[in-house]
Amino acid sequence: MSILISPSILNSDIGNLAGELDKISNADWAHVDVMDNHFVPNLTWGVPVIEAAKKYSPIPIDAHLMIADPDRWAPGFVEAGADSVTFHAEAVSAPIRLAREIRGMGARAGLALSPATQIDNYIDILDEFDMVLCMTVEPGFGGQPFLANVMPKVARLRDLIAKKGLETWIQVDGGITADTIAQAAEAGANNFVAGSAVYKAEDAAASVAQLRELAHK
Ligand code: DX5
Ligand code: ZN
Repeated sequence: MSILISPSILNSDIGNLAGELDKISNADWAHVDVMDNHFVPNLTWGVPVIEAAKKYSPIPIDAHLMIADPDRWAPGFVEAGADSVTFHAEAVSAPIRLAREIRGMGARAGLALSPATQIDNYIDILDEFDMVLCMTVEPGFGGQPFLANVMPKVARLRDLIAKKGLETWIQVDGGITADTIAQAAEAGANNFVAGSAVYKAEDAAASVAQLRELAHK
């Protein structure tokens, strides 16, 4: 399965969004963290930032909705141009209906699991999703340390996906750095979100290239 690097713009210089996206033109996706101060104790931005990103950059947009009531809001992010929309299992009311709606509008649908959320309730509906995001920090903030104890869930999920003959991507998000990416790849993740590791580096593109190389090993 192809290795995909998805820098998170959470800690980028949002006043220079076009320039910050340009810095990561060697990445596969740009990850946009939407927070509402209800589902998580932090507040970021919404649809207009997706629209701006689409206007100023060709990079595909991966919207990570850390919001209450994604059933109501997710379709608007597809309309705004998001190429992938991921909502949280802990927040959604009707995951199958919402995934079908997102896919029906032409975007990829992702299901996010916070670190303590198990996959058991979702095994039978895995085929409704293009991606499962296993959070490797508690959602809400960039710059937190990687939770290695999520790796058994990633490994089990990769195994279940293979047994079902699905092509589902597994994304990991939180604390992904040059020191942690290899163990996440080893466990079976193929899509890696990295915020601080990329945007706090002197050369963001070099950091993307380095992460890609380490994930391939
Ligand atoms: C955290 C967000 C992440 C965050 C990752 O809730 O979902 O996408 O930007 O930042 P780092 O890579 O610094 O942990
Ligand atoms: Zn995220």
